Amino acid sequence: MLALEEKFDEKNIEFGADLEEVAITTDESLMEIVWNNLLTNAIKFTKKDGLVKIELRKEEGQAIVKVSDTGCGMSEETCHRIFDRFYQGDTFHAEEGNGLGLVQVKRVVDLVDGTISAESDPEKGTTFTVILKL
Ligand SMILES: Nc1ncnc2c1ncn2[C@@H]1O[C@H](COP(=O)(O)OP(=O)(O)OP(=O)(O)O)[C@@H](O)[C@H]1O
Ligand SMILES: [Mg+2]
Repeated sequence: MLALEEKFDEKNIEFGADLEEVAITTDESLMEIVWNNLLTNAIKFTKKDGLVKIELRKEEGQAIVKVSDTGCGMSEETCHRIFDRFYQGDTFHAEEGNGLGLVQVKRVVDLVDGTISAESDPEKGTTFTVILKL
């Protein structure tokens, strides 16, 4: 989160964090791929002065992480295809990146036996939920 401070500042995006203390044993550098991609997407697809929030809580032997934004959201079709290689739903930003970020994210989450899902409303924004075993 701190490493992305400059990107948040560039777009004057407010950053919210609501983090319960949770201990988890996993591969830190692999998980960095997940947090980094979800947060950079949230910043990329959110307009100036928006809000990006990260929440962490513990529930029934699981860590639940939510990364949400007040960005452009995704259509239902995009929502279904985001984990496909080279898929980019938002043509306006298509020149930035390759549509591979979430493919990597999904790979890592699968590797550590977690789950990832996305909910989106084109009017309100997007929330990605990652669930990991403690
Ligand atoms: N937070 C978000 N809000 C709106 N759309 C999103 C969000 N995250 C992902 N998407 C959609 O999912 C597509 C795939 O995301 P992904 O991270 O795989 O690729 P990318 O960000 O376009 O490129 P790359 O990650 O390779 O730089 C995006 O192009 C965009 O259409
Ligand atoms: Mg990306």
